[in-house]
Amino acid sequence: LENGMARTPPMGWLSWQRFRCNTDCVNDPHHCISESLFMQMADIIVNEGYRDLGYQLVSVDDCWLSRERDTRGRLQADPHRFPSGIPALSDYMHKRGLSFGIYEDYGNYTCAGYPGILGHLEIDAFTFAEWGVDYVKLDGCYSHPTDMDRGYPLFGYYLNQTQRPMVYSCSWPVYQTYSGLTVREAAACLVVMLTPQITFWYPEFGYFLNKTERPMVYSCSWPFYQILTRMQPNYTSIINTCNLWRNFDDIQDSWESVQRIIDYYGDNQQVIVPNAGPGHWNDPDMLIIGNFGLSYEQSKSQMAMWAIFAAPLLMSVDLRTIRPEFKAILQNKGVIAVNQDPLGIQGKRIYKDKGIEIWARPITPVFQGHYSYAIAFLNRRTDGTPSEVSVTLRELGLAYPNGYGITDLFDGVHYGTVLPDKRFKVDVNPSGVVLVRCQVIKGSAGAARF
Ligand code: DGJ
Repeated sequence: LENGMARTPPMGWLSWQRFRCNTDCVNDPHHCISESLFMQMADIIVNEGYRDLGYQLVSVDDCWLSRERDTRGRLQADPHRFPSGIPALSDYMHKRGLSFGIYEDYGNYTCAGYPGILGHLEIDAFTFAEWGVDYVKLDGCYSHPTDMDRGYPLFGYYLNQTQRPMVYSCSWPVYQTYSGLTVREAAACLVVMLTPQITFWYPEFGYFLNKTERPMVYSCSWPFYQILTRMQPNYTSIINTCNLWRNFDDIQDSWESVQRIIDYYGDNQQVIVPNAGPGHWNDPDMLIIGNFGLSYEQSKSQMAMWAIFAAPLLMSVDLRTIRPEFKAILQNKGVIAVNQDPLGIQGKRIYKDKGIEIWARPITPVFQGHYSYAIAFLNRRTDGTPSEVSVTLRELGLAYPNGYGITDLFDGVHYGTVLPDKRFKVDVNPSGVVLVRCQVIKGSAGAARF
């Protein structure tokens, strides 16, 4: 969406993955969804350096609402958990140099059952603008996927009408691609669907079930396959409507979930990657670094891969108790710089074999038509020992004759200048990553060569 917003992927903090829909402020006051939770996170984001590294958004997710609209039909926050009201919370963020995000849902209800915006699009967009909202995440529960191609742009139209610049985060494609079917799987379903017999098979089998004269409940998958085939996300419209959008299932607090997302992006990269760029980003969901489910190595892997994906960096972690080594991953300047690279080109998987993957993202500086690159070597193996990966830069498609200055972005090691045909080795820990920055060396070939 060309609204001047999100020229690089948004960075900030979002409540959902870590704090979910905990509304029990009586028994669990420190972890419930309340204004004080967001204020505390904002204070830490400012005082502990996150804001100055780029994490400037604090965003409310589901469960902030009152069950009822007010007498004028406007949304209102739960009065017990947000006693100062949303405008005050948004002010709190702005005074600290942060931006403020809010959550709603295109359907009749949010996923957790609070009022949705359907039937109230205009008034809700204007309410958000009046409250000083800078970022709107619009979920898609309790609405029909076929209605989204019309509904998401319509809400975008009203957001635009308010004349307040707001980042527009959509969940539109994820509800249309039916929880993680890859393009290949969807294509397989399409084949089934396009086989005209499907409309005969189900009734025909029903006919024979009936003939047995034994009453049996008949549960069919027929409409699922038919709906699926109508629902290829219209990315042209999505790019023009939204600043970011979710493509795939919700992240869960596990390495398995992170890997599923990585696979989805790799397996569907031909369709997904070209859609990313300044103002419009694919969103693989929140960072779970610092929570319960990822080891130190796996956390580096998530951070590195989200940098390769040009993904929004939305932390969802308790910043009050995060361990220092996880904080250091989230605050790694070199990795953030890759994520925020101004070209905004999303990276791709360029190699995959026996649990080793290599991913490459073109970045600045560009010299004489040659990009610099961030290269991630990802080890999906579970051997108890690191795997050695040995490549030449030319094999990875990096052919600039003067070579590349290579730096490991997690351990800070500089490898000096590496020429395209020189063999280059890294040791990658199990479920870990090595992320290097390969920067084109400007000028003529120098003396020091690796
Ligand atoms: C589904 C979304 O994908 C999640 O990120 C979160 O917003 C929940 N809904 C909230 O109910």
